[in-house]
Formats: sequence, structure tokens, C-alpha cells
Amino acid sequence: MTRRLPRLGEIREVIGRPDQERSRQQRRLDRCASVLDVRDLARRRVPRAVFDYTDGAAMSEASLRRARSAFRQVEFTPRVMRDVSNVELTTDILGEVSALPFAFAPTGFTRMMHHAGESAVAGVAGRSGIPYALSTLGTTSIEALSEAAPNTRRWFQLYVSRDRQQAEDLMARAAARGYDTLVLTVDTAVGGIRYREVRNGLTIPPALTAGALAGIAMHPRWWFNALTTEPLRFASLESTDGTVGDLLTRVLDPGITGADIAWIRSHWQGRILIKGIQSVEDAVMAADLGVDAIVLSNHGGRQVDRGTVPLELLPMVVSKVGDQVQVGIDGGILSGTDIVACLAFGADFVLVGRAYLYGLMAGGADGVQRIVDILTKEVRTTMQLIGARSVSEVRQAQVRLRAN
Ligand SMILES: Cc1cc2nc3c(=O)[nH]c(=O)nc-3n(C[C@H](O)[C@H](O)[C@H](O)COP(=O)(O)O)c2cc1C
Repeated sequence: MTRRLPRLGEIREVIGRPDQERSRQQRRLDRCASVLDVRDLARRRVPRAVFDYTDGAAMSEASLRRARSAFRQVEFTPRVMRDVSNVELTTDILGEVSALPFAFAPTGFTRMMHHAGESAVAGVAGRSGIPYALSTLGTTSIEALSEAAPNTRRWFQLYVSRDRQQAEDLMARAAARGYDTLVLTVDTAVGGIRYREVRNGLTIPPALTAGALAGIAMHPRWWFNALTTEPLRFASLESTDGTVGDLLTRVLDPGITGADIAWIRSHWQGRILIKGIQSVEDAVMAADLGVDAIVLSNHGGRQVDRGTVPLELLPMVVSKVGDQVQVGIDGGILSGTDIVACLAFGADFVLVGRAYLYGLMAGGADGVQRIVDILTKEVRTTMQLIGARSVSEVRQAQVRLRAN
């Protein structure tokens, strides 16, 4: 065998050159293969208390863990030889076409994860053709978000406070700015107990405690951005001392019942979605109230510890109320295959929470975009591999939950 010295140009070709068009941050994100890879990057980017606030759940965190492990039990029966050269990912979500079968769930205090916050997330949602829900606990106001993301389909998530006038004002402001759907979250009679927040001493806004000062050395960029941009505060509520759970308990009205839907209707002309249904009985109750959609959700495991697993409830709920209301689901989504599984079990659409927040922490709007790209590719590939050419074909696909 004769050997030769390689030429420099050949070595360069093999090693590959970084794409100068893409920033260092984008290249780092490009190397993340999965949502969990982005989560690892996020963990390194933000102070621990911020990561834990996002990543954590209530008490033993069993609700979240079980929701995630249910997805691992999913078994599709793939159909083959079905020409899947073209698959259609669009679907109807609450009367409008969404480019993808998922939307971004409402999450509070989003500018804590990254200073670009809600505006960055809503911008990516708009460019991706999917809806974005702004939380009552948002850190960008209803008006500022509609100016930052005028072309995004916007929903407003309402927490009904004891002060009903405040809720009425929020609904009026959202309607005036073209938010088309009210997401009424009902799994928060009181705030959940989240050990990580207590242990980390997380307050809203984050206080410059001794621990936080030590954290500055580890995450100077996060702190620089937090201290040199608009101060972190709730855009629609007064901030308070204590954890988010304490805040929720102080402002939320635990007396809310189905009868309040009539009051909401008298202040909101748009569509209504009830989020936080955790039983077949309540799904039936909500559908009978005449709302447009329900979302099976346990708040990503952040409220009740050891609640029902949304995916396990889904088939029964769809068979009971699927012809009356659209049925959405959330909790524990970490891949496009999880999304396809929800659709296969009968969901009309899926909400994604932490996944996009991991992207936001890892790299602002670029990170959120990376998450959309990963999820989209995984949804499309899974559809092709199970032989489903459209979302409605996914909904007819054969699927089951294995015992182990
Ligand atoms: C950091 C964080 C903040 C949240 N804040 C809210 C909120 O303000 N209002 C709400 O209705 N749900 C809120 N949720 C719940 C989400 O809307 C959604 O139900 C949940 O994140 C879905 O689970 P996943 O994160 O595993 O996708 C929050 C979730 C997280 C992770």
C-alpha cells in the first residue's frame, strides 16, 4: 500500500469549517440533537434557581415524571408501503389553521429565563405559524406583546383573581388587542408546593441574596442582561415577597366554579378554552358548559402531586366529549414523537411548555427556534414512519400503551 501526505486543503475539507453565517450560539444549538440536549445547554446558561423554577414540579415531582414515562410506554403499529413522500403537518386548532399540531403553552415570568422573554417566544411562534398563549403571570404586557408579535396568533391565559374587576380589565385589554382565545386555567385553586423553589429561596423578582451574588460569577451574562434591561416584574399583577406558589395562593380565587363561565362570557366574545381538566367527569362538565376546547393538563406536574396522567385519560375523554369540544393535552412533551402519540390517542392539538423554555434559556429566540425545528422534524419523521400522511390519519393510527 502506498501512502502519501495529505494536502492542507483536503484536511480542511475533512475537518469542516464552521459556517460563518451562523453565530457561535446558533452553532452550539445546531449540535443539540434533542430537546433534552437543549435542556442540558439551558442548565449551563442560567442561575440554578431559574433553571429549577422552570424544570421543577410539585413536591415529589411524580406527576411530571409519570406524564413523561407514559410516553415511553407508547407503542405504535406502523403501516408501511403507503407513499409518505409528502406529509401534511397543518391542522385546525380552535377554528384556524395551525402550521403544526402544537402551540406554545402559557408560562409565567418568562423574562426570567431570558431577557427577551415572551416577545422572543411569540415571535418564533408567529414565524412558525402556531399560536402563543400569554400568561396572566407574564412579564410582558398584553399591549407590548401584541406590538412585538403583531402577526402571531395570540391567546390570553386568565387566572381569575379574587378581585373580579382585575380579571374583567385583563379580558377587555386582551380583546382590544386582538387576542382571539381566552385560556382559563382551572388547576390552580391554590398555588402548588414546589420544594425546589423553597430550597433555592427563589422569590419573584429574584433578590440579590448572598447565594445569588455567588451565582453572578457563574452566570455573568444572565445577570448582566437581567440588570441592564427592563426590570423583571409581572406585567399584569403586583409582585410580592415569597415564592410563586405563595403569590398564586394570595391572588387566585379558589371559589371559582362552572357558573363563572357565564360571567366570563359576558366579558369575552372570543373563543374559550378550559385548561387543567384532570378527570373524565370534569371534561364532561366543561364540555356541557359550551366552551370551545378543553386541555387535559396537570400544569406540567406543578400543582397537585400524584395527579392523573393526561395521556392515560385522553382516549376516554375523546370518546365522551370529542364531538362537542376540541380536546388538547399537555404535560411532559419532550419530543415530536410524544406529540404524534397524543394525536394518535385522539387529541386535536398539543401544548408545549418546558421544551420551548429550555430553548429560551439556552439561546433566546434562536433556542426557541431550535426547539421548533427539532419537534417539527421529529413529528414529520414519526408520521412518515408510521405511515400517516396527515394529522387526521395520525388520529386514526393504531396505538396502545404497553404495560411496561
Ligand atoms: C415555568 C412554568 C410556568 C408556568 N406558568 C403557567 C402560567 O402562568 N399559567 C398556566 O396556565 N400554566 C402555566 N404553566 C403550565 C404550562 O402552561 C403547561 O401546562 C405545562 O408547562 C405543560 O407541561 P410541560 O412543561 O411538561 O410541557 C407553567 C409551566 C412552567 C414550566
